[in-house]
Amino acid sequence: MKLAYTLFKWPLVCSRLVLAAPTWPAAIDELEDVMVLNTGYKSRGFSSHITPCSFSEFGVGRQTAAEWLRIGFHDMATTNVFFEPHGGIDGSIAFELQSGENIGAGFATSLTTYSSFFNTRLSISDLIALGVHASVRGCGGPVVPMRGGRTDATGAGPIGVPQPQNGQGVFVNQFTRMGFSIPDMIQMTACGHAIGGVHAGNFPEIVPVGSAPNDYHLFDTTLEFDNLIAVQYLNGPVSDPLSVGISVMNTRNSDFVVFNTDKNVTIKAMTGAPTFSSVCSSILQRMIETVPLNVQLSDVIAPYEVKPSGIQLTLLAGGTQIAFSGDIRVRTTTRTVSSVTITYKNRTGGAGGTITTTVAGTASGFDDSFTFYGFSSNIPAVSSISSFTVTVAETDGLTTTFSNNGGGFPVQDDVMVLGPQSCLSNGNLTVLAAVRSTAATPTLGITQKVPRAAATPVPSLAKATAAMVKGATVGPYDIYSASYIISSATGTKFGVSSGPSADDFKDASSLDSTCVPLGSSDPSSTSSSSTVSSTTSTSSTSKSSMSTTSTSSTSTSESVSTTSTSSTSSSTSATPTLGHKPIVGSYTFQGCYTEGTGMRALTGAVFYDYPAMTLEMCATNCAGFTYWGVEYGGECFCGNSLAPSSTLANLNDCNFICPGSQVEYCGAGNRLELYQLTSSTSSTSLSSSSSSSTVSSTSTSQSTTSTTAESSTSPTVAPTPSIVPSVGSYHYAGCYTEPSGVRALSSAFYPTDAQTIELCIAACGQTPYMYAGAEYGRECWCANAFSAGSNLVGDGDCSMVCAGNQLQYCGAGNRLSVYIRNGTTT
Ligand SMILES: *[C@@H]1O[C@H](CO)[C@@H](O)[C@H](O)[C@H]1NC(C)=O
Ligand SMILES: *[C@@H]1O[C@H](CO)[C@@H](O)[C@H](O)[C@H]1NC(C)=O
Ligand SMILES: *[C@@H]1O[C@H](CO)[C@@H](O)[C@H](O)[C@H]1NC(C)=O
Ligand SMILES: *[C@@H]1O[C@H](CO)[C@@H](O)[C@H](O)[C@H]1NC(C)=O
Repeated sequence: MKLAYTLFKWPLVCSRLVLAAPTWPAAIDELEDVMVLNTGYKSRGFSSHITPCSFSEFGVGRQTAAEWLRIGFHDMATTNVFFEPHGGIDGSIAFELQSGENIGAGFATSLTTYSSFFNTRLSISDLIALGVHASVRGCGGPVVPMRGGRTDATGAGPIGVPQPQNGQGVFVNQFTRMGFSIPDMIQMTACGHAIGGVHAGNFPEIVPVGSAPNDYHLFDTTLEFDNLIAVQYLNGPVSDPLSVGISVMNTRNSDFVVFNTDKNVTIKAMTGAPTFSSVCSSILQRMIETVPLNVQLSDVIAPYEVKPSGIQLTLLAGGTQIAFSGDIRVRTTTRTVSSVTITYKNRTGGAGGTITTTVAGTASGFDDSFTFYGFSSNIPAVSSISSFTVTVAETDGLTTTFSNNGGGFPVQDDVMVLGPQSCLSNGNLTVLAAVRSTAATPTLGITQKVPRAAATPVPSLAKATAAMVKGATVGPYDIYSASYIISSATGTKFGVSSGPSADDFKDASSLDSTCVPLGSSDPSSTSSSSTVSSTTSTSSTSKSSMSTTSTSSTSTSESVSTTSTSSTSSSTSATPTLGHKPIVGSYTFQGCYTEGTGMRALTGAVFYDYPAMTLEMCATNCAGFTYWGVEYGGECFCGNSLAPSSTLANLNDCNFICPGSQVEYCGAGNRLELYQLTSSTSSTSLSSSSSSSTVSSTSTSQSTTSTTAESSTSPTVAPTPSIVPSVGSYHYAGCYTEPSGVRALSSAFYPTDAQTIELCIAACGQTPYMYAGAEYGRECWCANAFSAGSNLVGDGDCSMVCAGNQLQYCGAGNRLSVYIRNGTTT
């Protein structure tokens, strides 16, 4: 292949490679990411719900992959090609869960999972189709070609899902109504039953209760997507409960009835493994492409060779420069890359400059691998940027320039959401945007997920807009702002549009709780040259309290590095020196306190922000409580009473400098920087004797304590699993829950059957992420921040041993053993 390419000049190579790809940005972009980024950097985690193929997060006796295949068929099966608009895969099943045709817990749980991926750019019906694609491939079956563009029904459709007790004639009529012939019907049934089985609880007339392990009787003897459903039906041993057993006398042996419709001709033709695969690929593709008449499906989705990811412009202090940052995702399945370079045009189309990139991380799909090349570069605000091309050099000398089908990858600079200057506090979303003074007045748009009144797990997407108010003019931009109260950060997207330009699809959950002022002093002049050669170090030239974060953050979060820039300027203006702050708002400093014995000193509420905690942040989050205290740099506890066993310790024990303020102390390990509401100080007096600490002093030793407790309950002297206290620079931070509908640590996912705490930390440590969390024995999740809704629970909850080391704990179902990177507190 490569030899042939080198016979041509590169522009030909380029067009040959690029023409098949969609032009970015495309409507399928979000679907494509969820489809191909299974594990690794920026993974979306869709396939984690069905990996391994036998897996169910809902306990034994279930197989999520089979449930995903089944919901695809059930959503499609009410199609009527004789009457418009036909129906098909349209998500109407979300409104049909009360129907006797849709029996089983899998429908609701699948839809709940899909709902967490659902947004304005990815419909529930595309997710139902993707669930079929992913479950078949993830279970070792063929690639079912995937197109996007389905739209969701807003109510129930007609009934008509084939039921086991139907007669042969009814089955034929039902499939004819759906647009499928008798051979199609047999193929779809056999392929649909290649994985999964029948639950005795739902269908006792097919599987007697107590007759199968976990009351779940498989269609064939394997969980994988293979040809055994056909082979065993014809040659035995037949175990399919829809073919033999009590279903026969109950006339519910529907597989037998369906397969016999043409005297076994079609099913016999499917016994060869390659034939079974290709037949299933084709019939399941037709199944998921059965859509309402008005739906226009996209081309079959192939992963982009080169795809921009998280591209962001951010106006910097002073308004003379713009930070241009993001990642370039390169498909590495068939190439070994030596370097990736960006060449950009200025805002009027003239030459801009070139930017070098550095590897930010790697990711994999079922059939593809990717490397993300990160960059962050400051460009002059006046000449700015309008588009860029990407040049990929391979180790064998081949160089290809990707121009996005000719026009370059577009970047609009009329409107940019200013992430560091925006914030979300107590549901108050405040968004700042920089808008070119020549562009139209902007509008803030918000899309929230709202639970539906009717019983369906799928929320509706409620869209709202808010007018924005013009503030300062900074360089060629005007700063606009707007605030809007949202009910939850989870799943809430926002963006700003100005005329035809928009900077949108931002996650509310990515915002900090405090808005950082933009500032007026220009960043360091070294980055103002027109040809910028930017690497990690360019963005981390600003020195700040978060040095460890900013070195890791070039590509994952432009807001962190820009925050550092701004916090530098804000701390320059702040004159206070480091010390224990006597008064914070309406709260008064009480001293350095220990945690309670065996319990937290303050149990009212807890909130974490390891990268950016300040005393003010904790005070704001604990408003209304009598006490609050900051511990271990980033942990904020609130309460109306203090545990009696919490005692005053030596003031010098509280020696962690707050990550978000260099002039404040934020407690230490097992030490709270404690504050009390000023008005209540006189009525409730705290212990004033300085007692020596009896509790060991770091979170690490807390875990050691529980380790000892675990071991001492063991009746034998054989080694027992324990909590690994630390690996390298990562230290155990506790056992955390997953929030509902979102992953606690969502930036990267590295599952493996060889999982150990060491492997997980090594994986998260490449980037490096602030947190590494091991879950369910084999999973490993990473992120720089927790998603809202994850709570610290007892260490005992994290009770599953690691898949790769029986002596270590790796979380549990819905529980993460979390490790935090060192140095975040100094
Ligand atoms: C089809 O195959 C099944 C299983 O081997 C058998 O019981 C049935 O009689 C066959 N049907 C016909 C029409 O041959
Ligand atoms: C863009 O670059 C061209 C030269 O390549 C220059 O003439 C033009 O003024 C630049 N545009 C802006 C807005 O600076
Ligand atoms: C939300 O925050 C903004 C900016 O701090 C403030 O002006 C506004 O009053 C707040 N709105 C509410 C309802 O608290
Ligand atoms: C990491 O933290 C531990 C205790 O929290 C400390 O003893 C150690 O020196 C730290 N290491 C680095 C490299 O900061």
